Amino acid sequence: MALRLIQGGRSSDGLPGLLVEHAAEVATLAGGLRTGARMDDAAVISAPGGDASHETAPAVACWEGRILAAGPHVELLKAIEGSGYPLNRFARLDAGGGTVTPGLIDPHTHLLFAGTREGELVLRQRGADYLEILQAGGGILSTVAATRAASEEELADHGRRWLAEMLSHGTTTIEAKSGYGLDLPTELRLLDVAYRLGKEGPVEVLPTWLGAHAVAPEFRAWPDGTEAFVRYLIEEQLPGVVAQGRARFADVFCERGVFSPEQARRILTAAARLGLPPRLHADELAPSGGAELAAELNAMSADHLAAPSPAGIDALAAAAGAGRPVVAIALPATTWFLMHEEVAPARTFIDRGIPVALATDFNPGTSPTPSLPLVMTVACLSLRLTPSEALAAVTINAAAALGIADDVGSIESGRQADLAIWDVPTHRQIPYWPAADIVRTVVKRGRVVMERGLA
Ligand code: NIG
Ligand code: FE
Repeated sequence: MALRLIQGGRSSDGLPGLLVEHAAEVATLAGGLRTGARMDDAAVISAPGGDASHETAPAVACWEGRILAAGPHVELLKAIEGSGYPLNRFARLDAGGGTVTPGLIDPHTHLLFAGTREGELVLRQRGADYLEILQAGGGILSTVAATRAASEEELADHGRRWLAEMLSHGTTTIEAKSGYGLDLPTELRLLDVAYRLGKEGPVEVLPTWLGAHAVAPEFRAWPDGTEAFVRYLIEEQLPGVVAQGRARFADVFCERGVFSPEQARRILTAAARLGLPPRLHADELAPSGGAELAAELNAMSADHLAAPSPAGIDALAAAAGAGRPVVAIALPATTWFLMHEEVAPARTFIDRGIPVALATDFNPGTSPTPSLPLVMTVACLSLRLTPSEALAAVTINAAAALGIADDVGSIESGRQADLAIWDVPTHRQIPYWPAADIVRTVVKRGRVVMERGLA
């Protein structure tokens, strides 16, 4: 198999239209944020008897980067012509009997860092604890040291490499956190590189300020270093980040032994006042009041949630019931990679009406995978999500967690034409072939940006 990445994309032959045809299935995910039983409905249009060459096999029409419509081939052609669009101005893209889904959305990554931490895997196999490694100056802090020493160009090259990997696994939009600088110049560098890589494309990048990822080394020797660092974040770092104008959200690692809910509340409230909506690393390792705080602040998302308290689950369910849903972003590749037995109670979240999304958490310590399809597999195996729920969790619900569900995450008229075309006949096979390269083509804003062909 040869992978071809097309820099910047081509609108096949410069034509304004794109018609994706001969699909066995189009999973549209139409109909907005999914909760409860609706999470299992991928809003699928199927070819009769799975025959992708049938005249009513599903197709997707795009025009100037937006979705026109999806539907049975023959009807779609009639609708296109009936609305006055010239059929000869549509490039044809053969889905080859595969499945078309929205481009995947990864709503929690730590894209930019320097160095690697493969040694910690062996330490953990021998019984070392994640937070103990951090307190001993390893973990996040070792990545901070390497990242501070890295040039802008090195960070950008690293970012390009891993964005290309994400794209080759079907991802067209990601969130990317800072948090491996902890000082203002490095945090600004990370946010700026993330922003610029998103502009460069084809993968869209939404930067998040995670200044409160760990207490910076300079503050750790102080008697009350955590508190001093929190004050520094609010009074000095946050204003600098806001003045730079790159970050879209603010995040805090709210966890027993890292930042308390009270400290997280102060940081996130200050950030929200300055226009950065909150998200949270919540209850990853122990019940720490993170889910409760996410509900109280009406955060965009509460992420990890491998160990929420019963009260935290109640608070998230109440927020969803009151029409102010906080998206629970489960990160099952992280618990898997940390060899933790306790995983996010995703079935409970779904039963309680809490919307669930999935993300890679791509980072050098706890989840070095860029692959959302692999995360879908782990979600099916360890969180017991169905394949359709897992797909909703990396498309429409992931978009909602980033506040962009009106634009991406589903194949509906008017949405951005971001598509992944898979070499399997149904979306239910996406998590079924772990680590296989089954993405055939990726379309971003109506342009083919990745093609995998037979060598
Ligand atoms: O989401 N838990 C906090 N932050 C990251 C890990 C960061 C690291 O270990 O480098 C996470 O898992
Ligand atoms: Fe994370």
